[in-house]
Amino acid sequence: MKAEPDRKWWKESVVYQIYPRSFKDSNGDGIGDLKGITEKLDYLQDLGVDVIWLSPVYQSPNDDNGYDISDYQSIMEEFGTMEDFDEMLAQAHSKGLKIVMDLVVNHTSDEHPWFVESRKSKDNPYRDYYIWREGKDGREPNNWGSCFSGSAWMYDGQTQMYYLHLFSQKQPDLNWDNETVRNEVFTMMNWWIDKGIDGFRMDVISLISKPAEFVDGKAGVEGYASFSDAANGPHVHEYLQEMRQKVLNRADTLTVGECSGVTLEEAKKYARSDEKELNMVFQFEHMDVDADEGNKWTDKKMDLRDMKEVLTRWQKGLEGVAWNSLFWENHDQPRSVSRYGSDSREYQEVSAKMLATCLHLMQGTPYIYQGQELGMTNVPFGGIEDFRDLESINAYRELTEQGVYTQEEMLKYLRYKSRDNARTPFQWDDSENAGFTEGTPWIMVNPNYKWINAKDQIARKDSVFSYYKELIRLRKSHEIIVYGSYDLLLPEDPDLYVYTRTLGSEKMLVICNFSENTRDFTLPGWCQDSANIVKLIGNYGDAGIDGSMRIRAYEAVALLCKI
Ligand code: GLC
Ligand code: CA
Repeated sequence: MKAEPDRKWWKESVVYQIYPRSFKDSNGDGIGDLKGITEKLDYLQDLGVDVIWLSPVYQSPNDDNGYDISDYQSIMEEFGTMEDFDEMLAQAHSKGLKIVMDLVVNHTSDEHPWFVESRKSKDNPYRDYYIWREGKDGREPNNWGSCFSGSAWMYDGQTQMYYLHLFSQKQPDLNWDNETVRNEVFTMMNWWIDKGIDGFRMDVISLISKPAEFVDGKAGVEGYASFSDAANGPHVHEYLQEMRQKVLNRADTLTVGECSGVTLEEAKKYARSDEKELNMVFQFEHMDVDADEGNKWTDKKMDLRDMKEVLTRWQKGLEGVAWNSLFWENHDQPRSVSRYGSDSREYQEVSAKMLATCLHLMQGTPYIYQGQELGMTNVPFGGIEDFRDLESINAYRELTEQGVYTQEEMLKYLRYKSRDNARTPFQWDDSENAGFTEGTPWIMVNPNYKWINAKDQIARKDSVFSYYKELIRLRKSHEIIVYGSYDLLLPEDPDLYVYTRTLGSEKMLVICNFSENTRDFTLPGWCQDSANIVKLIGNYGDAGIDGSMRIRAYEAVALLCKI
């Protein structure tokens, strides 16, 4: 007898990520805000998602668009007030939508009062809240580079020591080995839980426990070593179990850890099904298949076989022991339709739907990043002045100054991979500024809003938006989509991603063409008896089911077979 699936509401849910700065501006200052989100809750309810993950809305000097927090218990002025937040939360709940907050506690802003105190003197009570070290031979304590270029250590003249910042200089890393720091974080989290929020997405949570010694790593092209040794550090599981006991167990939360550098073995601990730590993790191996030996700045296209190998390893590896999060996009990634599909007029819609099919029918909780449900594309940025993201701007400066790339090359790579591709305003309609703002948007609007926008797609039955609605609806009516086991077919095929899901006496067959080539495909023997086959969804309206099928450019089809 097969065991019954371990049912959980957060496995059956679909999460929608909002990047508040770019979602909807309610007061004409060009910056999205909380009132804007409240205005658009009906849109999300119509789409059918269950949970909203809000990128940070806390007070922040915005060095890294809110991922540098100076007060965890107040709202960024540009986004509104705590009353606006409470109103948004209440309205969301009344519409059956849950709200998950972004928890950014690997680091704070350097303008957070804890850090302002910490840097004052070596005996300040807050000194040990952060990671301070003496220099080594007149240089940084080790050769780690920051994620946003330059050294991961910043010299502070006041006390003549260095502090660690894995991200920007304005994001000093907290010292999680200090119990007082942990308790401060837990108290703050409990304050939000008491407000009624429904969970946390935990920013770079795999990095919180630093190694006991900061030894040099192997230096890369820019002369710095990656800080990958900081991932999955010695006490990270201990600290998360403590968080589980002191905070998370107090409510029925959804928790997802952003785990850079996570391996399958580590993920089984973070996302263990006995719920001692988190519900699920974001892993990033599938975001690296189109990198060039770890270097993100390239326009290399992925080989689908690599993608299938990575995703299948995670699908099979976590089956029954932990839980996957499924994503193609977030605020740190370019648009998937431009990256893995096609953003040409001809194929933008069909390939956006194909990508959605492939992802939503795997095992795990699907995440939709704002605009993905319209098939929003990468952006035709002009020069470097069009970019806003500090990662992009710093990388451009560093790599062109060092002569690693010319300015033209670097701009080409930024247009393909920059995080800003995901951060341009949501395309609500075809009026000026895509209906995002009545003022001047903080970052350019993608000019293709004239033909890619929500207003048009809501009205159209064959739109990408309507297709997402249908995928979400299917998830609610077919247990196999949530709980079925996964198996890959045709691992060596360069164009087709074909997999099955199996639950009880049902089997689902998912066929996705990642290329423009038309391909013949013969249905497997167990799926030949037409009396027992139902077509669940497909992105070419007319496609019939036949023992031998013709799979057209970017075609996707899912069949349900009784076995
Ligand atoms: C995470 C966030 C990213 C941010 C970084 C530092 O990776 O998703 O946007 O820049 O952490 O907080
Ligand atoms: Ca605004």
